[in-house]
Amino acid sequence: MRRGQRDLVLAITGASGAIYAVRLLEVLLAAGRNVQLTISPAATLVFDKELGLKISLQKFDLDSLIPPDGGREDSTLRMLRANAPTGFVFDNSSILSEAVRGKVTYHHHTDFMAGIASGSFLTDGMVICPCSMGTLAGIAHGMSENLIQRAADVHLKERRKLIVVPRETPLGSIQLENMKRLVDAGAVVLPAMPGFYHNPTTIHDLVDFVVGRICDHLGVEHRLMNRWGSEGDAGQTP
Ligand SMILES: Cc1cc2nc3c(=O)[nH]c(=O)nc-3n(C[C@H](O)[C@H](O)[C@H](O)COP(=O)(O)O)c2cc1C
Repeated sequence: MRRGQRDLVLAITGASGAIYAVRLLEVLLAAGRNVQLTISPAATLVFDKELGLKISLQKFDLDSLIPPDGGREDSTLRMLRANAPTGFVFDNSSILSEAVRGKVTYHHHTDFMAGIASGSFLTDGMVICPCSMGTLAGIAHGMSENLIQRAADVHLKERRKLIVVPRETPLGSIQLENMKRLVDAGAVVLPAMPGFYHNPTTIHDLVDFVVGRICDHLGVEHRLMNRWGSEGDAGQTP
């Protein structure tokens, strides 16, 4: 972490696309950032369904999110790892070193005593990835029903970066109105909608497109995809 850099908040909720969260966490840690992490109960259902990962919110362990053995035999995570370009999804053992583990501070989603529940805890921003329609609605209406919604509310009131990464289709008028409320309040709504203009050839390319755009808005440097107007610099982790 560079001098003057503050922690980033990553909240993971129960929308489809758990792989975006795992990859984003990996890229933030590889970039040397400290991460304040919180996870909703519904997100654990999605982790299990999509990646075969069993996560305990009471006794959280980073290894359960990024298991060194790659997870269940039939899991998407194992498939992604088996075909991954260098550096994708924690195939590099150094990412799980003690030094890196120390960069992640986990908070239970009901822990309103956590620093990130207060505006006096300074951060460089927060991202909710993926963001369910339920969490999005809660933030849009200032509910602060759990730590995730409270921390998001804090980021809005403190005029700090809040990036929400919704995943839903099609979108109804209530959901669209909630997204507009968030944008009007200062948030960046960055849907998990990979582009195809960078000529992706693998799922990794699609995941990295979304993660790369999140990093752009967080101010985290990366080389996750070819940018429009430049060529040949994709496929490398920071
Ligand atoms: C496997 C699975 C996939 C889901 N996918 C989505 C989704 O893509 N978008 C969404 O808004 N909700 C999705 N849901 C529903 C949410 O998890 C549910 O609304 C939950 O209450 C959200 O709670 P949270 O915001 O606290 O995580 C999914 C649920 C499951 C079990």
